[in-house]
Amino acid sequence: TTCLQRVDTFLGRSFGTNVVADQSETPRKDEAEEKDGRKSFYAVQAERQEQAERSVLFSCPSRTSERKILKYLSRHGEIKKHFSYESYGMYAVAEFENRESVDSILEGAAIPTASHESTVPFKSRLLSVRNLGPADSSNQQSSKHDQSQTTIPINELMKRLSREGSIAQQITSLTEAYQLTDENIRLRFLVCSLLRDIAAAYFPECTIKPFGSSVNGFGKLGCDLDMFLDLDSISGRNIKTPKSGLLLEYQMKRTNSERAVTQSILSVIGTCVDQFGPGCVGVQKILNARCPLVRFAHQPSGFQCDLTANNRVAMKSSELLYIYGQLDPRVRCLVFTVRCWARAHGITSSIPGAWISNFSLTVMVLFFLQRRNPPIIPTLDHLRDLAGPADKCVIEGNDCTFVSDFSKIQLQSNTETLEQLLCEFFEFYATFTFTKSSINIRKGKEQNKPEVAPLHIQNPFETSLNVSKNVNVTQLERFVALCQESSWLLQQTETLTPTGGPTPWGLTTLLLPSQIAGIKSRKKRGREAASERIKGLLESLKNKNQQKS
Ligand code: GTP
Ligand code: MG
Repeated sequence: TTCLQRVDTFLGRSFGTNVVADQSETPRKDEAEEKDGRKSFYAVQAERQEQAERSVLFSCPSRTSERKILKYLSRHGEIKKHFSYESYGMYAVAEFENRESVDSILEGAAIPTASHESTVPFKSRLLSVRNLGPADSSNQQSSKHDQSQTTIPINELMKRLSREGSIAQQITSLTEAYQLTDENIRLRFLVCSLLRDIAAAYFPECTIKPFGSSVNGFGKLGCDLDMFLDLDSISGRNIKTPKSGLLLEYQMKRTNSERAVTQSILSVIGTCVDQFGPGCVGVQKILNARCPLVRFAHQPSGFQCDLTANNRVAMKSSELLYIYGQLDPRVRCLVFTVRCWARAHGITSSIPGAWISNFSLTVMVLFFLQRRNPPIIPTLDHLRDLAGPADKCVIEGNDCTFVSDFSKIQLQSNTETLEQLLCEFFEFYATFTFTKSSINIRKGKEQNKPEVAPLHIQNPFETSLNVSKNVNVTQLERFVALCQESSWLLQQTETLTPTGGPTPWGLTTLLLPSQIAGIKSRKKRGREAASERIKGLLESLKNKNQQKS
């Protein structure tokens, strides 16, 4: 076999294996690999990070065949995996078998000379392939790229979903269309690795890790890339002080708070990203936020990036969501569907504000699944009780301990279908006592609200905090009204009958603009208004059926 041989890049797109290992590799005897085949969050992270370190990102001329480029690159060593994509031009990622190949590639690369411009001679693993001719006569058209790195437009998705034969299939199909692909996850880790190279100029032992939806299993193509600069693993932190004799200590700059250290480090790294980072544009330092960050766009990947530091709790949240998502395939499906539904109705937004965030919405779905009878997923307290000594984790006084080994988690046998669950989800929140109760996934039971806030969702790790503090009454009311409407719609024969064609039915009906989208405040509308609403819905269903016949 040649090193050009294409590795099938489309492995394991089935449920629960969104983050998959490249099966062309011989499996490593990794002790973190679980007995039931599911890898712990850390094993997946470590593997992806290591793959990224052996990878190089190339901007490719559009009129040169992929084959020719690969042949050229493979002079430096075996390419284990490659894929190409389009984003402001053609790009290719090549993962080499050995890190030495990457060094060899970089050694042979030229520093560009531009007659009217000057360049910052910062060398990175983002390179351009230049075709100095003669042109490729055999392959004039641009090389075919594997896959789009963005989602299909909602209208196209609606047509696709309408052709499905059941609501459960629609939910599955939506999840498959939206979830991150293996390549997209690789690209996310590669961008982190490229940034690490910049930060490593100051902190050679640092790592930059993705967190949030890039790694928690709930990421949708096109979601932002949340990263954090990890300086905790720098050696020398845990050196035991001898009882007597001499000890050497680094002299280090001191500031008055951890926050001030984070801000100054992010400020410097932000400047480096801005001034030296190839492909990094629109760098903004948002250092006074609750969680200071540097925001920028990474053009070659098309990712909107948020770089934070000292954010280990967020990493634990990502791991927790990952575990829940891997426990039962219905978890991810329901989260994707509810997120998509919420986005279609403007319940969530990419602009920060009084909206419910995707994170809050995900916690709401998890809570609902804990409240089923029997529960589909265990409580966080239960996951904590299953933890072994190696899982122990306390961050800034907060207990973030929970089990990481899947084989220790026993599930109860709940057989509810996705269709039932979706319907029940809307019913659950249409009638939830938001005025009194707080959503609490640690206990898996609603608790009395500790403070006044329209929506109270206890932060799973910083338990005195409310993750939905930003949500105002209007937004909560819109959410509840839409839950009522969707629950009602899912009980109508018209909604439940497959149309067999592009006409909306089932889940697609729920994604259509709401009949009550204009709702201002439901308080001001009496019973009369409610019956008007139902009338309007009936009319719309009738019209739809007329269109069909
Ligand atoms: P996307 O909308 O797909 O980006 O989802 P996301 O989960 O990545 O959300 P986001 O980018 O807003 O935040 C990234 C991560 O930060 C989340 O996954 C959480 O771990 C954490 N996070 C976000 N918002 C909150 C919050 O309000 N409270 C807490 N405690 N953590 C949050
Ligand atoms: Mg995010």
